[in-house]
Parts: sequence; C-alpha cells; structure tokens
Amino acid sequence: MLRVGFIGWRGMVGSVLMKRMQANNDFKKIDAVFFSTSDKGGKAPEMGQKNTTLLDAYDVKALLNLDCIVTAQGGDYTDFIMPKLKDAGFSGFFVDASSALRMSEDSLLILDPINYNQIVNGIKNGTRIYCGSNCTVSLMLLAISGLLKHDLVEWVNSQTYQAASGAGANNMRELIAQCGVMYSSVGKNLEDKTTNILDIDQAVSEILGSDKLPTQYFGAPLAGNVLPWIDKAMENGQTKEEWKGMVEANKILGLVSNTLKIDGNCVRVGSLRSHSQALTIKLRDSNISVNEIEGLIKSGNEWVRFVPNNKPDTLKYLTPASVNGTLDIAVGRVRKLNLGEDYLSMFTVGDQLLWGAAEPIRRLIDILVKHA
Ligand code: HSE
Repeated sequence: MLRVGFIGWRGMVGSVLMKRMQANNDFKKIDAVFFSTSDKGGKAPEMGQKNTTLLDAYDVKALLNLDCIVTAQGGDYTDFIMPKLKDAGFSGFFVDASSALRMSEDSLLILDPINYNQIVNGIKNGTRIYCGSNCTVSLMLLAISGLLKHDLVEWVNSQTYQAASGAGANNMRELIAQCGVMYSSVGKNLEDKTTNILDIDQAVSEILGSDKLPTQYFGAPLAGNVLPWIDKAMENGQTKEEWKGMVEANKILGLVSNTLKIDGNCVRVGSLRSHSQALTIKLRDSNISVNEIEGLIKSGNEWVRFVPNNKPDTLKYLTPASVNGTLDIAVGRVRKLNLGEDYLSMFTVGDQLLWGAAEPIRRLIDILVKHA
C-alpha cells in the first residue's frame, strides 16, 4: 500500500481534500500518515489509518519513510522542506498544492482530464514532483477542453472574476465582515422606503473609505467593490496571477512555452468560493457554427455543464452561487462576437476549492495508487 503523508490537511484546501477523499473512500486505498508543523504528537484526524498520532512535518527522517508527500501547507513550507528532502535523497512523490515548484523543470502540473497521459508517462519516466495548477487556469482549461482537443483555439483573452477563497480563509471572513459593516451603516434607512437612495449610497461610500471597515487581508474594500489586482507585479505590467495564465496552461497542455497565447485581467470580486471568467477566443476556423461549438464544449469532459444562452438558465446555473460546492464546470453565454465569425465569447464558472485546488490532487493520489 502506498504510504502517503499529509501536511496542511487542516487548512482550507487541505480540509476540502480530506472531505473529498472521505467521500470517495480514498483512505482505504492508502496507508495515510498525518503530519503537523505545530502539533507534533497531537491527535491525527480519524480516517481509519493505523497511525493516529501527528508526526512532525519538519522531521525529514519521518518524511523519508513515505512513498508520497502531499502538502497543502503553502509555498513557504515547500521552499523550506524541498532542499532538505533532496539532500536526504527522498525518492518518493511530492504532491504540492502551492505554486512553489510549478515552473521547475522537474515538476509536472496536474489536471488529469486534460493531461492524464502526461501524468502517467511522468510516473513511469521518473518525475517525482506533481503540482496542483493555478485555479483560474485549471477551470479555464476544463471549460474549453473540447475546443482544445479539436485544435480550434488560436488565442484566449480571459477576464476573471475571482472569489475571495482564492486569497485564503481569512479573506473570505473579511469579505463577509465587510458586508456586515456595510449593511450596519445603513440598516435602518434601508427598511425605510422613503429614504433617498443617494443618502444610502453616500453612507455606504463613507463607510467603505473609513477605517471602520476591516481591510487587513485584502488591503481594500471588496464588499461593494472590485479589485483589479491579484498577487505580485510582474515587470511587463501583468500581475503574477495574469502571468500564470499562459505559462501554466502551456505546461499543462505539454506545449512549448507561449505556444497558446493567453492573457487578460484578473479581478477579485465579492463571490465566496467560485471563480468566473469571461473568455474571448480567437478560433482557428471561422466556419464552425455556434451549434457545433456547443457540441464540442459539451464533449470536452464529464464535468462541463452547458448553460443555454438565455436569461433564466444563466441566472440559475451560470453563477458562483449555483456552482459553489460542486464539481460542475458551468459554461454558457456562448456566442460569436460582432468582431467577426472567428471570435467566440463565453462565460464559465467553477469552484475554486474543488476543481481549482483539491480535486486534481485527490485524483493524482488515485493515479499514483494505480500506477506508481
Ligand atoms: N491565485 C488564486 C487566486 C488562487 O488568488 O484566486 C488559487 O490558484
């Protein structure tokens, strides 16, 4: 049985991974060992495993006993532990939810509905580092996989509407707290239908600009607002989140870097855990009809939920609120743009914590069980 050590299983992505693995009886297929960076000797979660005590996540000797390390602890842990594991000759698999090793030459990015063969070949050929990809990239590729398989995509412009969860658990709390402060500033006036809406607007604007609003994590109001900046600045004017779009997508697709051109704006919005994206796609074939495109999108993978381009279906099925907590990749608003027959527009929504983070890792563990 594959001996798999889990680090960072208590955090947000780690907790979603644990739930998904329990729901799929995955713990029956592995010999699970739980580690902690802060609670060595504490009680491990009960997943039916033999070892019920938490081991020290910094104990390299204990890590060397594993066939596979799965970490959702974050990039700082990976940066710290990886050189030590290498020096100690760790020869097992290292599966990482963070971005620390994504661009390293000896890693593969995991998104098996897209690159299953690449992963299985990697296992056979000695690749030992497997990284979960950026959430917006994974969710975009799953949405357009049917078009990619038929080599219809010349380039993609993506405009993202990213949920608070992508920034972390504290950010989700902060968004909800901000909404509460915003509401409290006008609560009574809202109930009184005679209050002038402009007075309400002014009260909200004042509170959003005041130090009464908690902004420790976002650095700005997200409630009643949008933030067109995610992650660090790159030298070319992109943010790092925007930069990841093209580099990670090409790596997942097994293409030479920059083959498939992807760029756009990444924007944080006030949704909780599902990321949305508006995609403009330059098609290689202008003769393909919207009906044919619909068929190809639906055939991309079993998680695509196609939403007809009408208002009731869009409001019901093509929103973060409707996708949250599901493995659905909702795709809708599909139409040709006025720009020309080879310009396709679509809107897609996927859960940032499931297909955007935990699910590719869960499935990779399953692939390792079968192929390692
Ligand atoms: N970087 C993403 C975000 C999170 O900020 O939404 C997961 O890749």
